[in-house]
Amino acid sequence: LAVALSVPLALLLNWFCSITLGSVDFHLVNLQKNYSEAKTYCREMHTDLATVHNSTDMKNLLTSVSNATVRAWIGLEAGDVWMWHWSGPDPKLDFLSWRRGEPLNSSQDACAAMDEGGGWFESDCGAQRSFVCGNSETGGDVFVAETKSWRDAQDHCRDILSDLVGIHSEEKNEAVLNVSGSRSVWIGLFRDPWKWSDGSASSFRYWKPRQPNHLRDYLILVQENMTWLEALSYCRRHHDDLVQITNKDVQEKVAELAQNATSPHVWIGLRYACSFGFWFWTSSATGCYLNWAPGQESEGKYDCGVTGAVEATRGQQWVSLSETATLNFICMFLFNYFH
Ligand SMILES: *[C@@H]1O[C@H](CO)[C@@H](O)[C@H](O)[C@H]1NC(C)=O
Ligand SMILES: *[C@@H]1O[C@H](CO)[C@@H](O)[C@H](O)[C@H]1NC(C)=O
Ligand SMILES: *[C@@H]1O[C@H](CO)[C@@H](O)[C@H](O)[C@H]1NC(C)=O
Ligand SMILES: *[C@@H]1O[C@H](CO)[C@@H](O)[C@H](O)[C@H]1NC(C)=O
Ligand SMILES: *[C@@H]1O[C@H](CO)[C@@H](O)[C@H](O)[C@H]1NC(C)=O
Ligand SMILES: *[C@@H]1O[C@H](CO)[C@@H](O)[C@H](O)[C@H]1NC(C)=O
Ligand SMILES: *[C@@H]1O[C@H](CO)[C@@H](O)[C@H](O)[C@H]1NC(C)=O
Repeated sequence: LAVALSVPLALLLNWFCSITLGSVDFHLVNLQKNYSEAKTYCREMHTDLATVHNSTDMKNLLTSVSNATVRAWIGLEAGDVWMWHWSGPDPKLDFLSWRRGEPLNSSQDACAAMDEGGGWFESDCGAQRSFVCGNSETGGDVFVAETKSWRDAQDHCRDILSDLVGIHSEEKNEAVLNVSGSRSVWIGLFRDPWKWSDGSASSFRYWKPRQPNHLRDYLILVQENMTWLEALSYCRRHHDDLVQITNKDVQEKVAELAQNATSPHVWIGLRYACSFGFWFWTSSATGCYLNWAPGQESEGKYDCGVTGAVEATRGQQWVSLSETATLNFICMFLFNYFH
């Protein structure tokens, strides 16, 4: 069972039913309508398409859906403005503690973490960090030393009936800093463009893994220094793979992203098979596109453990480097790459 959201893909639209909200009750409407029709219907007959505020709402929503329903609309729709929200029960952004130069606004999809001095910074949501869960009832914060991605950290907090911590005052910021024991930690702040049809500020999201991926750029620069193998496993864990540059469009996008790297080169998914003397892409992508820097021709003979990288600046062409160098890298999402 899945609850469909208003994805901007016209070809899927006729398959869904709508659910309406009446106080805390959800009412499943067993009609096949596209999103805008469903919304109009709900506004005329009930209140609006369903808004989900918290896990309790989510449970109610699911119990009101029959087993026969494969997908149904709810009132979550993609807007044009990317906004920061707190993931807990109080989504208002009424206190800020960004450190100088933050938020970076570097990628669209972002989460926030607190540093050792209590300042917040924007970070790739897939990065592994310790985190702090808040408890809206007792007010006590729980520090979890285990490192997880932002979304996994949120799941962990939700399992103990809370959410990632929300910070609405200087005092709370200090309290979170106190429990975090001089480590940078995830806090419950994230940025997305989604809004509810009824205008509710609810920041509750319950995405399936890898959703919503249709809005994401299919490439992401990770501004952390890792060896080639570490970078490959990072991308495979959080995204799909290191980027495969199989045509000029991808090369241009990579060149654009690489300009923001903090290292002089950026890892890509290119590796040299030393026993056979050829280069290959890690996800078996094929393509005749090549963009080697002068003196780095693909026919050259290289040592084992040699991998491909892109220059962060200048020609932004490909060079061969030892896999043990530590560089920033670019991951890709296959879903968008092939669609
Ligand atoms: C939804 O359906 C209505 C009526 O069939 C149609 O006029 C409208 O264009 C459809 N909207 C989308 C986004 O497909
Ligand atoms: C969940 O949200 C509903 C509003 O839809 C609210 O009535 C209810 O108290 C909330 N439950 C919790 C546990 O916060
Ligand atoms: C839905 O499926 C569950 C488990 O398969 C079953 O217990 C329940 O009775 C079903 N509900 C309806 C309304 O068919
Ligand atoms: C990012 O966007 C926010 C809100 O628009 C702005 O306040 C902030 O200065 C921007 N950060 C940078 C580094 O440009
Ligand atoms: C944080 O820790 C300091 C030093 O232990 C203490 O003085 C302060 O009251 C704590 N602040 C909060 C909000 O808990
Ligand atoms: C690089 O960073 C700047 C400043 O943070 C930002 O405006 C720009 O959009 C970034 N470029 C890319 C390709 O993400
Ligand atoms: C990555 O390494 C470069 C030097 O190659 C350094 O200037 C940069 O600060 C490092 N970035 C991070 C995030 O550690």
